[in-house]
Amino acid sequence: MFFDSHAHYNDNRFDSDRHELLTSLAAEGISNVINVGADMESSRESIALADRYDFIHAAVGVHPHDTEGMTEQDLTDLAQMSTHPKVVAIGEIGLDYYYDNSPRDIQREWFRKQMALAYKLKKPVIIHTRDAMEDTITILKESQFTGGVLHCFSGSVESAKIALDMGYYISLAGPVTYKNARSLPEVAKMVPKDRLLIETDCPYLSPEPHRGRRNCSIYVKDTAAKIAELRGVPVEELAQQTAQNTKTLFGIE
Ligand code: NI
Repeated sequence: MFFDSHAHYNDNRFDSDRHELLTSLAAEGISNVINVGADMESSRESIALADRYDFIHAAVGVHPHDTEGMTEQDLTDLAQMSTHPKVVAIGEIGLDYYYDNSPRDIQREWFRKQMALAYKLKKPVIIHTRDAMEDTITILKESQFTGGVLHCFSGSVESAKIALDMGYYISLAGPVTYKNARSLPEVAKMVPKDRLLIETDCPYLSPEPHRGRRNCSIYVKDTAAKIAELRGVPVEELAQQTAQNTKTLFGIE
């Protein structure tokens, strides 16, 4: 059974068939999903999904794209939300210098504040970082360590090593299956087996051979198959190990 450690089933691309899809996952071999918030509304929706479905846990946080306009009241509300028994992490939080949807200084300010919040709440963090590895590592180093994962990892082998040395997990998504996967096959080979997670980040980033279509947790199996091939292990073993790692990191069961 596979654990999809990062999904966004609140997305409106699932409006037409969300319940049907979610109730089909177990038969497809998907045992667990973490639904990850990206702003205040999707954080609340993540909790609602976790309330409705046993196999879904939630993360609450504000993505760097949406940090412009974030307020201290939002931090208070996130703290309140995190008291829900199925909220297992603060995320996704971090830096995105690829899209720059919020000014960089504002992204950094709220990344730091949400790291401090996670530490105060004793929750692990789910980190989004794109074209911003250096500043991300700087802020992670400045912040109190609370456990966490660099989700949909897209950096170099060297930056993966730095994150692992700091105690973070590395999560791989669909891009590891792409022809232009750059350093990701090397990263997939070097992460210690007890520090690796897998995810879809659905509805985004479908792995091959589904690229271009709406992603869903069932396709985590294609990403897992690619990683298992790269590491030279049976996919069942990779599924079992990454599911256990996800439960260990987020304190599930
Ligand atoms: Ni995401």
